[in-house]
Amino acid sequence: MQVLLRVCHVLVLALCVSATEDFDWTRNEKGSFYYGTFPTGFSWGAGSSAYQTEGAWDKDGKGMSIWDAFSHKKGKIYLNDTGDSSCDGYYTVKEDIRLMKDMKLNHYRFSISWPRIMPKGIKSDQINEKGIQYYDNLISMLLENQITPIVTLYHWDLPQVLEEKYGGWQNSSMINFFNDYANLCFERFGSRVKYWITFNNPWSIAVEGYETGEHAPGLKLKGTGAYKAAHNIIKAHAKVWHTYDTQWRSKQKGMVGISLSGDWGEPVDITNQRDIEAADRYMQFYLGWFATPLFNGDYPQVMKDYVGRKSAQQGLGSSRLPTFNPQEKSYIRGTCDFLGIGHFTTRYITQKNYPSIRGNSYFTDRDLAELVDPQWPDPGSEWLYSVPWGFRRLLNFVKSQYGNPMIYVTENGVSEKMVCTDLCDEWRMQYFKDYINEMLKAVNDGVNVKGYTAWSLLDKFEWDEGYSERFGLYYVDFRSKNKPRYPKASVQYYKRIISSNGFPNQREIESWKRKATETCTSSNQLLAADPLTSHMEMVTEIVVPTVCTLCILICAIFLMFLLKGRF
Ligand code: NOJ
Repeated sequence: MQVLLRVCHVLVLALCVSATEDFDWTRNEKGSFYYGTFPTGFSWGAGSSAYQTEGAWDKDGKGMSIWDAFSHKKGKIYLNDTGDSSCDGYYTVKEDIRLMKDMKLNHYRFSISWPRIMPKGIKSDQINEKGIQYYDNLISMLLENQITPIVTLYHWDLPQVLEEKYGGWQNSSMINFFNDYANLCFERFGSRVKYWITFNNPWSIAVEGYETGEHAPGLKLKGTGAYKAAHNIIKAHAKVWHTYDTQWRSKQKGMVGISLSGDWGEPVDITNQRDIEAADRYMQFYLGWFATPLFNGDYPQVMKDYVGRKSAQQGLGSSRLPTFNPQEKSYIRGTCDFLGIGHFTTRYITQKNYPSIRGNSYFTDRDLAELVDPQWPDPGSEWLYSVPWGFRRLLNFVKSQYGNPMIYVTENGVSEKMVCTDLCDEWRMQYFKDYINEMLKAVNDGVNVKGYTAWSLLDKFEWDEGYSERFGLYYVDFRSKNKPRYPKASVQYYKRIISSNGFPNQREIESWKRKATETCTSSNQLLAADPLTSHMEMVTEIVVPTVCTLCILICAIFLMFLLKGRF
């Protein structure tokens, strides 16, 4: 009977039927807002990544990345969109820095495109000075404007040749190639860059790139691909950290970290031990998969147990989860000067058995099911529910599991659907307000958060979703040739949070949303007039010259006839 009741309970959640009566959602301190400010020196920023914003995919000697190749294949990206030109950020450094300056950002997080500076992926093969020049200029301009660059070395755009020749992150030779690339970046930019992030969200690289194939390079190596990729990525991270530590740290005095993505997993029933353990497994297979080796030297015990047991049941001679030898363990342990956290949403987790005979995959290895509360707001991306309290729990989890490391929140934000051209993004203001407030509570809990990065500065290419999900503080009009940027109301709102370094008092904060909404109405009008502007651009740039050329031609022909008639 008890089992039956429990199954019903889970079904109710899964079917997204309101469950308020038999489940107390309010236990999560939903309503409480905390007024207060962040410690002095707290760093406020916004972020982007190379493939998502730069465009100029084949300009000035850039080589092809796995994302160029993937997005050029039909059927991989929503509406077959590509990042070929995206926001054209490659050409708009000055303008974009003006937007950051206007918000008074303390830092800007961007990524370097590996194939833009090493078109063939390998240092000895070719260095593209024009690509280096681009990042050089970006870094200099940021510093001139007192904006600290936080630089990601790998935000998913592996040089395509490395995928073709070696199988990308399936192959351990990537470790040395990546180290050479990182070393070049330290050499060329390290005198001015003090915050390095080796990898952005390795979970996605491994799972979506090599297990489900939704992302480049699109491989579906179920049950092995993700583990193998992750293993090489962790080793590559450690190697780069050691390179920095031994060759550059004393001169450059910077830090090397990694940016891990972590959704929070909350047990469906906090009184049920099986749910509690399932939620912990969710966390260990997600954030812990990467964080535990970097902080403690090995994969989480529960991952080793589960993947090991399932592999044995499948008749395999060894676990599908690779192992680190003792030297590797001590080499990898302690290679994180700061931990970047990308956080967007939360899931409820319950225990669910997946018999190993039915094939294997990273997902079924975990023996759990993910659920959502139908009442959670879901303004944009299908997967992104706004659950602010999960953020505080995640930050506290990091504190307790990994010895309270220095944390930079490297991504946090919310999207909206493509069809939405409303710049008065009320839901985003609410999301930022609530999530940043939960981060403030976490800081008061003693979590060592040093900075926050709103994701993202601009609307941009959202991977397999193309341009259909907009995360930007600034709206980008992708239909227009010059890709103009328009501030959403959240720009004004975020600006207030930054200038107050938090949430000083109730009276002031209540006016923020109203004031932000006042300004966005005029931006909405500008945006609405944009089709007209584009139309006028077309008239002046295409129609007028064509008509003029035609007129000249007709006149010339007419003249010829006239002259022929005479002679
Ligand atoms: C995490 C990725 O790092 C980023 O590139 C992406 O835009 C966000 N998730 C939102 O999906």
